[in-house]
Order: sequence, then C-alpha cells, then structure tokens
Amino acid sequence: MRVCLVFGGGGQVGRELARAIPPDGWRVEALDRATADITDAAALSAILDRLQPAAAINAAAYTGVDKAESEPERAYAINAVGAGHVAAAAAKHKVPLVHLSTDFVFHDAKGGALAEDAAVDPRGYYASSKLAGEVEVRRRGASHAIVRTSWVFGVFGGNFVKTVLRLAHERPELGVVDDQRGAPTPAADIARTALAIARRLAGPDVGSEHFGTFHYCGAPATTWHGFAEAILAAAATHGHPCPPVRINNEYRTTATRPVDSTLDCGKLARLYGIAQPDWRQGLASVLGELLAGGRGP
Ligand SMILES: NC(=O)c1ccc[n+]([C@@H]2O[C@H](COP(=O)([O-])OP(=O)(O)OC[C@H]3O[C@@H](n4cnc5c(N)ncnc54)[C@H](OP(=O)(O)O)[C@@H]3O)[C@@H](O)[C@H]2O)c1
Repeated sequence: MRVCLVFGGGGQVGRELARAIPPDGWRVEALDRATADITDAAALSAILDRLQPAAAINAAAYTGVDKAESEPERAYAINAVGAGHVAAAAAKHKVPLVHLSTDFVFHDAKGGALAEDAAVDPRGYYASSKLAGEVEVRRRGASHAIVRTSWVFGVFGGNFVKTVLRLAHERPELGVVDDQRGAPTPAADIARTALAIARRLAGPDVGSEHFGTFHYCGAPATTWHGFAEAILAAAATHGHPCPPVRINNEYRTTATRPVDSTLDCGKLARLYGIAQPDWRQGLASVLGELLAGGRGP
C-alpha cells in the first residue's frame, strides 16, 4: 500500500481526506496538529522517515482571517514558515507535495475569472501569509502542485453553511453581503481532487505539466448573499427554518475580503481531467448529513 500523508488532518478538508476513499493501492494517513505540527521541522522529517509516504498533502493552515490581523506572527509561522518546512521535508524525502492555498491571494477578478498567472493582490495578514507559503513551497525544491481553492464548506469544522443554519434558528431575518463574488467549494470535493493530484504526481503517468499552480473551486460563481439563499432554500427541504435573506453591505470585518475571487479552473480540467464541482450538489449532500433525521448542525 502506498501512503498519502496528510498534514492538517483535523481541519475541514483534512477530515474529508481522512474519510475519503483513496485511489486503488493507496491509504491515507491523516495527521492532526497534535501528531504533526508543521512548525516543527525536525518532527516533520522524522514522520516522513517513519511513514515513507509516496505523496503528501498539506491541508494544515492558520485560517483565522480576521484573527490574523491581531496575530500576524502566528499566521506567518504556520502558513509561510510551516508550509516551507513541509516542502523542505518533502524535497528531502523526494515525496511529491500537494499544497492547498487560497483565492485570498487575489483581490478583484473584475467580473472575469482569475487564471493561475494572474497578478496577485493579497490584502491582510492571512492573505499575505498564504501567498508567502506559496513562495516557500516553490523555493524549497519539492515536486509540488499548489492548489488554490475558495469558500470551503463541509460537514466538519466551522464554515459559512453552519453559521447560516445557526442564524436561521436565532433570527427572523438574515442580512448578508452581496458585494463579494466568488465560488463555494465542498471540502469533500477538494479532498478527492487533492488525492487524485497526489496519485498522479507519484505515478508513472506524470509529466512536467502536472506540477505547478492550479485553481480548483465550485461552480457557478455567486455572492455570499446568493450562497446564503441557496443554503436556506436547500435546508428548508429538511424542514429547517428559512427566514428571508436581505442584502446588507454594511457588515464590516476586521480583514479586507477579496471583492471578486472567481477562479478560472480550466488548467486543472485540461491537464488532469478534473472538472469544477457544482457546489449545489455538494451543499445538498452536506445538508443531508448535517440535518438528516432532524439533527441540527
Ligand atoms: N476555509 C476556507 O474557506 C478556505 C478557502 C480557501 C482556501 N482555504 C485553504 O484550504 C486549506 C484547508 O482549509 P480548511 O478550511 O480545511 O482549514 P481548517 O478547517 O482551519 O483546518 C486547518 C487545520 O490545520 C491545523 N493546523 C493549524 N496549525 C497547524 C500546525 N502548526 N501544524 C499542523 N496543523 C495545523 C488546524 O488545527 P487546529 O484547529 O488545531 O488549529 C486545522 O485542523 C488551507 O490551506 C486554507 O488556507 C480555505
């Protein structure tokens, strides 16, 4: 059995990786922060020595977008320095690495879709630390695929879907911004895609074109307001409360969000045959799991 080692196994994507059906002949070894702290370079090297993985996926990150504004050192220690440690360990052990990154490296697609080589424009410490992580991964010499994704939601951890479901119980009406455009992406689809990329990078059918930077997000693009309406409409089919969602662009966050971070995912489709998932299908299955049998989120 070939091992795909996962860092960040306790997160939204990490837990989906842990329960995903691996490619034939593979097993996933998902390690959470307690077992594999990516800020500890020596520990990472020892883990790779012990497990001898055929590929690795880095899903570990500091994802507190607003909190990063008050603790930027911590965000950089994990998202930049830690990502570099993972890449260095992968390079040393000749293990191909799939590293997850974010649409936050961009600010405004201006109604189009951002290709991998579009000019970056990170705002805030989370965004800058993730961009610095990409730079680290590229310069450490590991064979890698950096996969930028956006608006992650799923069954595990905290996310927008769960927040909307909770607020629908608490409030007669929800106010959500419609001045930020992007694409929700189911964590389970990211996990499947990351595994497919890892398998390819470690396999005999890999070519130089399979390495580099890729975009992967759900379709169609929407706004947070549109996403909230879709969540409640789908949740209503489970008997969940469905208050009206009005547009509220007064909502302020500590960190600046991208205005339009719609990603062009054509490169991944061309080179890997991986299509964008329709996030509405992923939403239906997440809600099915969260709300089945009248269970709350
Ligand atoms: N969430 C989104 O909307 C979004 C959007 C675009 C891109 N992304 C990217 O997608 C990837 C996965 O995100 P996610 O939503 O799954 O994030 P998540 O749910 O916050 O999971 C990240 C995991 O990393 C762990 N972690 C933090 N510091 C660590 C360390 N030093 N060593 C090892 N593990 C550590 C966290 O553990 P603790 O919980 O113990 O801190 C957490 O389990 C990240 O690269 C993120 O930047 C996310």
